Amino acid sequence: MRQKTRSCCSRSCRPPDGKRKRLLPLLLAAALTLSGCGGGGGDDSLRIGFALYTQDDTFISTVAQNLEWMVREAERETGQKITLFTADGRSSQTTQLDQVDRFLARGCDVLMVNIVDRTAAAVIADKAEAEGVPLIFFNRQPVEEDIQRWDQIYYVGASARESGDLQGGLVLDAWRENREALDRNGDGVLQYAMLEGEPGHQDSLLRTEYSIKALTDGGVEVEKLANETANWNRAQAAARTAQWLEEFGSRIEVIFANNDDMALGAIDALSGTPRSGWPLIVGVDATAPAQEAVAAGQLYGTVHNDGRGQARVMLDMALALWHGENPGEAVTLEEGHYVWLPYRPVTLENLEELRREQEETGPATQLD
Ligand code: BGC
Ligand code: CA
Repeated sequence: MRQKTRSCCSRSCRPPDGKRKRLLPLLLAAALTLSGCGGGGGDDSLRIGFALYTQDDTFISTVAQNLEWMVREAERETGQKITLFTADGRSSQTTQLDQVDRFLARGCDVLMVNIVDRTAAAVIADKAEAEGVPLIFFNRQPVEEDIQRWDQIYYVGASARESGDLQGGLVLDAWRENREALDRNGDGVLQYAMLEGEPGHQDSLLRTEYSIKALTDGGVEVEKLANETANWNRAQAAARTAQWLEEFGSRIEVIFANNDDMALGAIDALSGTPRSGWPLIVGVDATAPAQEAVAAGQLYGTVHNDGRGQARVMLDMALALWHGENPGEAVTLEEGHYVWLPYRPVTLENLEELRREQEETGPATQLD
């Protein structure tokens, strides 16, 4: 195991009430090596432990690819060596807990955790606190109480409710602008089916609720024909949609999908049927394949989930923490713990704008 070499030389690094058990060794190391903030002891690398709930998730893999790319860029620009340890939790909380233990044993300076099971956050928080290692949860939001367990626990994500509002808003606009086309049976009611993400995930719960609320608040009467979880997964969504098509046929006027992979699954199920009979389909994320589907007119719209922004914020926070600075000076922290990235709606109308922006600011390959 590597000897921890991080030095503490700023206010934000100071142990609240003696919480940092390793304070003495840290001070000794700092004194012996006369190193400044940023570590010493012959290894000045910033070590980041990056735990993913599963690598097999389109949105999460875009966050990971963006972070890897940004780490290389930051190394080039600043000369600061950064070692990124990435672990795939393969949807098992037990596996992820072992990975977190290994990160801590390897002397990681910051942890970034995309937790498998949101209810297990306290265990990880306590491990990180015991070792004095700042912890950034992202994308899968622990409850407030767990975030508040220690002042060096953060959450980076986007407001689930906002994505639901915006997704519902896309359909509301379509209803107002082109009601005849949408209300295919002409009954003045919007018949819909909902493909839900993983049960218990904040984005599944709130996107499902607020997408529909945006419509009812806008005065649209709705009728739910079906709702089922497809666990964020394209193949599962295709299977559910195929069943619904058998059961409801052209009665389905809109398919809401809690994410783009499931919207693409719905499109897979519809392919081979005449396009004129397709329901309107909406997703969330604006992944690369979803952008293609918008361009092809198969996906009516999506809501951009800023995975690149999440990676940027986490890296900026990690660098600030490494330099012993208050991360609130590097990013906009709300209530001392939260960073919220904005969502934005995407349709054929503004797709090109989003693509241009992504080309200018991100990895050469179009990732999100
Ligand atoms: C994304 C999904 C993703 C999930 C994973 C959500 O924010 O929209 O595509 O599967 O996060 O936690
Ligand atoms: Ca109708």
